[in-house]
Amino acid sequence: MVNAYLDVGIQSRMNRIINPKDNRVVMLAIDHPYFQGPTTGLRNMSNTIRTLFPHCDCLMTTRGAVRANIAPEALGSKPIMLRVSGGNSVLFDDLSDEQLTVSIEEAIRMDAAGVAVSVFVGARNQQQTILNLTDMINAAEEYGIPVLAVTAVGKDMARDLRYLALASRICQDAGARIIKTYYCEEFAKLVDWVAPTAVVVAGGKYSSPPDALKMAYDSVQAGAVGVDFGRNIFQDDNPIGMIKAIGAIVHGNHTVKEALDVYNAHTPQASRLE
Ligand code: R5P
Repeated sequence: MVNAYLDVGIQSRMNRIINPKDNRVVMLAIDHPYFQGPTTGLRNMSNTIRTLFPHCDCLMTTRGAVRANIAPEALGSKPIMLRVSGGNSVLFDDLSDEQLTVSIEEAIRMDAAGVAVSVFVGARNQQQTILNLTDMINAAEEYGIPVLAVTAVGKDMARDLRYLALASRICQDAGARIIKTYYCEEFAKLVDWVAPTAVVVAGGKYSSPPDALKMAYDSVQAGAVGVDFGRNIFQDDNPIGMIKAIGAIVHGNHTVKEALDVYNAHTPQASRLE
């Protein structure tokens, strides 16, 4: 049935990002150099993207990375979640000092399916980053572009339910259409408290295939629509096996053990991604 009140542009782009058939997504995060430079696995970023792009549902990355590292013929084949906040580096203690870095017009020109903004709740620049988010939501919603809010966690902040739910709920109230946050104990409560806003889970530092796959499994079991993993995919010895195994959990409802079989069934490439 046609819903005359549906926000058609937003819904159309959300359908490109999150598969409407199962309401799930495997988002690949390759945006790390925006604050940490030549990250392991992203030093030859064109090769990393070329290797993994065919296996994700959506690529979260930056303006420069799209321009420099996606082959012209691959543009448009997958939705891009364009990071539009930044302005800091790992050389500075306080990573929260971010501003908006890409205009909504530029995001539209680049055919972004959505735009992503980090918020640093509890950090020195909390207000500035929440207002970055609301400014971008005000601009993006005018054009039917969904905004993904990243609940960035500073070095001193706990990744527990109390903190992550606080940050996630602030993002929801600001109007974010998708919230990216970290997995924590009692994660189902966080998902429930921000429902019906879609939640994707960040991977964090490289761990191990069983641990990363367990996190993906626990996340979707708790109600997340999927994951937005980076390092646990592109820093693994078998990155294609890893993203396929994550896809088997997210879209195929595989157990961790079944997903590990998918991982092991794929022959790793000769050398690690640089
Ligand atoms: C953080 O602000 C960035 O969006 C990262 O790219 C993100 O957290 C996901 O990457 P990873 O899975 O490597 O933590």
